[in-house]
Amino acid sequence: SAPRIIAISGSLRTGSFNRKLLALLVEQARAKGAEVDVVDLKVLVLPIYDGDIEAQGLPPPAVELRERISKAQGLLISSPEYNASIPGSLKNAIDWASRGGPNVFKGKWAALAGASPGMFGTVRMQAHLRQSLTHLGMNLLPDQFLVSHADQAFTEEGRLKDESRLKSLEGLVTGLIARIQG
Ligand code: FNR
Repeated sequence: SAPRIIAISGSLRTGSFNRKLLALLVEQARAKGAEVDVVDLKVLVLPIYDGDIEAQGLPPPAVELRERISKAQGLLISSPEYNASIPGSLKNAIDWASRGGPNVFKGKWAALAGASPGMFGTVRMQAHLRQSLTHLGMNLLPDQFLVSHADQAFTEEGRLKDESRLKSLEGLVTGLIARIQG
């Protein structure tokens, strides 16, 4: 059966470089036969994690996020780096999804990507994200797919200008699917 992947952008803004990058990853994954569920954190609005809210029962968007992660075999994330770390919105989503029952992350594969207009292209964010997801029992692909100078990297249509980058992007997706299929 088709490998099932859940894809999340760590940036909410409409013109986001990471939304563009995620769209390319999703397109590749679908072209390779994967079933991809794209979670948009601008649509699936989660409250800021608060133990008092959790004590009233997991909020419906957190329940939904957990269900959607449960159904997936692999996780694809493209995220910006905020102050050398994971954006609060993405970390908040991971924190909610880690609550309220069995661990929905455990034993699944994850592939990380990130775009930044800066020189280092989210490398510090990826290290922190890797730490949290590893803590949750995920298996991380060794690849660090980075798009630095992201403000120069995309065409008007949201393609990557550099063809060789496109090849390694394809490699990331192929790697994730291969691991899922064992
Ligand atoms: C940033 N930005 C940023 N970039 C980076 O490479 N390293 C960093 O530590 C930070 N820190 C940071 C903090 C905050 C609060 C913001 C809002 C931004 C810049 C960031 O990479 C840039 O805004 C990207 O365009 C965000 O990604 P999207 O929204 O284009 O996907």
